[in-house]
Amino acid sequence: MTEALKRVRDYEEQTEMQTGSCARPLLHLTPRVGWMNDPNGFSFYQGQYHLFYQYHPYDKRWGPMHWGHAVSKDLIHWEYLPAALAPDQVYDGKGCFSGSAIELPDGRHLLMYTGIVETERPEDGGRELQVQCLAVGDGKDYKKWEKNPVLTENDLPENASRYDFRDPKIWYENGRYYCVTGNCTEERDGQMLLFSSEDGFSWSFLKTLIRSGGRFGRMWECPDFFALDGKRVAIASPQEMLPEGLEYHGGNGTLCMIGALDASGEFIGEHCHAIDYGIDFYAPQTVAAPDGRRIMIGWMQNWDTLGYRPEEPLPWFGQMSLPRELSVRDGRLIQTPVRELCAHYGREAAQRDIIISGESSLPGICGRVADLTVDIEPSDTERLYRRFEMRFVDNGANYACVCYDPYEAVVEIDRRYSGTRVDAVHQRSCNVRQSGGRLRLRLILDRFSAEVFVNDGEQVLSMALYADTESDGIRFLASGEAKVSAVLHELL
Ligand code: FRU
Repeated sequence: MTEALKRVRDYEEQTEMQTGSCARPLLHLTPRVGWMNDPNGFSFYQGQYHLFYQYHPYDKRWGPMHWGHAVSKDLIHWEYLPAALAPDQVYDGKGCFSGSAIELPDGRHLLMYTGIVETERPEDGGRELQVQCLAVGDGKDYKKWEKNPVLTENDLPENASRYDFRDPKIWYENGRYYCVTGNCTEERDGQMLLFSSEDGFSWSFLKTLIRSGGRFGRMWECPDFFALDGKRVAIASPQEMLPEGLEYHGGNGTLCMIGALDASGEFIGEHCHAIDYGIDFYAPQTVAAPDGRRIMIGWMQNWDTLGYRPEEPLPWFGQMSLPRELSVRDGRLIQTPVRELCAHYGREAAQRDIIISGESSLPGICGRVADLTVDIEPSDTERLYRRFEMRFVDNGANYACVCYDPYEAVVEIDRRYSGTRVDAVHQRSCNVRQSGGRLRLRLILDRFSAEVFVNDGEQVLSMALYADTESDGIRFLASGEAKVSAVLHELL
């Protein structure tokens, strides 16, 4: 083991003794200590899910990237393992950036990640090169491959940037390994590159799989590419997006492209849309579960909203979203919380067909860590209500909320009044299906986040939320008359 890896592993153990009982989300993974960004190496290996993450243990801010490591049997409760990678080689000395994992036929676990290389060549003008590297292990300890790096600037097609070439996502299909990486052209137009390999160790460039063509931001980070429900789905997290209506916001966004491969293997895109319409979601990665489900997890944070932080001093910053089951329906990527969540249900409360006009709370419908589904419809089909609002983490003074305008068919999340003193992005909205005032909202509320699934996962809006962890009020407000049914499960 290198000095750098030993140092981080010792540091994890020491700090854990001091901070073992600190406040953390109940159901969302946070870094063992320090800073977390992208999910990495999401895989099912030797009977459990492995999730690695971009990790700077020594600070709650981004820094030299390590890979943190956690495992779970049910995708809900995670157990920490020692850090898996530290930046300790010439080819990754400036950081072990994002990547993925797969099991090899001989039972070893293969990690593929981006190494950040310092160069002193005058033509690089101080910029770092990005190369793809491998590490092989047993689910706990990993050894970097002696022939690293396995993909470098020499493998890139013409006009592809060697400074923005990262985040390999590996998979196995029809007897071969493939990976896609994020990249951009010299002019900084985003693209996804496809590579292939016979054995997972020796790689070559196949083609530029998708080009942004100026449509979606600049550099495309953290790509993924998989088959689902008879389609091919490509996902990416483009930097420097331009806003487009309520579909894409400016800055770092998420993008899903649904299409098919034609006879010559070209990806023909048919539909595209944002993956999460909330404030905090980025760099998602998927895994194929042993039962065939495609499951996605994302960093429940965004580079553009890092200014919003908890007031209390916690030893960690950054968290993962809840893992989501994916499907494709009517040209959209549908997302629902993994069904494993239901095994963590505690107290149940249900209220059906209640008319809300003005402001009310409903008996039993309260809780601070909960899974709440609310069906809303007009009380009278002739008269549509004007606005519906559901407040949560409500203590009378502060709250966060989700609102619905049935005329515009817009859903909005808002954390402005949740007690924060920071002026940052606190509201985001999206268009939802026009449905005469009928809407289903499912809110997953944890101690430090809220995720809102609209109409059984047609849209999702996620946000980190540093509201008082004791405030458990839930209130409903309607202008006009809305008929509401609510089912709440406290989560344990
Ligand atoms: C995305 C990203 C990746 C990179 C990693 C660095 O959030 O910028 O492209 O590999 O974070 O931590």
